[in-house]
Amino acid sequence: MSYNIHEITGRSRVYGILADPIHHVKTPQVMNRLFAEIEHDGILVPLHVGAENLAEVVKGLRHVQSLAGLIVTVPHKTVIPDLCDDLTDQARMVGAVNCIRRNADGTLTGAILDGIGFVEGLRAGGIEPRGMKVILAGAGGAASAIAFALADAGVAAMTIANRTEARARDLADRVAAAYPDVTLSTDGSAVAAAELVVNATSLGMREDDPLPLDGAFLHNGQIVAEAIMEPAITPLLAAATRAGARTHPGLPMLKSQARLMAEHMGAA
Ligand SMILES: NC(=O)c1ccc[n+]([C@@H]2O[C@H](COP(=O)([O-])OP(=O)(O)OC[C@H]3O[C@@H](n4cnc5c(N)ncnc54)[C@H](OP(=O)(O)O)[C@@H]3O)[C@@H](O)[C@H]2O)c1
Repeated sequence: MSYNIHEITGRSRVYGILADPIHHVKTPQVMNRLFAEIEHDGILVPLHVGAENLAEVVKGLRHVQSLAGLIVTVPHKTVIPDLCDDLTDQARMVGAVNCIRRNADGTLTGAILDGIGFVEGLRAGGIEPRGMKVILAGAGGAASAIAFALADAGVAAMTIANRTEARARDLADRVAAAYPDVTLSTDGSAVAAAELVVNATSLGMREDDPLPLDGAFLHNGQIVAEAIMEPAITPLLAAATRAGARTHPGLPMLKSQARLMAEHMGAA
């Protein structure tokens, strides 16, 4: 471990990540490193909780007065909004929560920061999505958050392409209702026309996965971005490099989120 956890005392603020399975999560390392960097007296620990016990656990955690916040991931992100007392506008629109602040009175405020983290990660890489034409592969949790955040960032047009087209249409309709200035479509063949190509499917985590979009239409006028962090160079990013496009990996999405999560939970 390349950082030191400071001494935990009776004053330390406690944070948890709720997940099932939990062994693979990277959030404890990322958040505890950030707490050390910003000299916040807090510690984030893994909380392995199955779906069947989530409501009971969350009900109990409300009464833990030293608890300041919770990170939430698979499979709880779309269930937990109902267990919160209030939600940010973005969480309400996306229908998912991945970060909760426990307020002093025990109430819980849920936020979704995946998508905002993605947009902040782009900006940290010198890419401003405002005004861009985007094609987004996927319509699951990460894609939904990214779609709303890109619309909020002012993209001009967005095509949502997904294996299950009905989910793409549903997401496109919800984004269009909230952001009427963005032109929405679900035509997965529109790769060449996009200035920003985003993969938010789980295709690319395995070496032999097919590309999430037709790689033949990638070109050197595009930026191709990933949500996947492992491997760092997915088959889509490799194809983009071969086509001369600029690439943007998945890790900045998580790194940018860490600070946003700390802010939402009152740690920064
Ligand atoms: N960098 C970060 O901070 C960050 C944050 C969150 C998530 N992620 C990554 O984002 C990816 C998606 O996560 P998620 O939470 O959105 O998962 P999810 O809700 O389960 O959605 C998965 C998406 O991938 C599509 N998909 C899955 N298998 C497919 C296949 N064989 N062929 C075509 N499409 C397929 C699904 O399409 P259907 O609708 O047709 O099933 C759906 O659109 C994961 O790799 C995750 O690690 C990264």
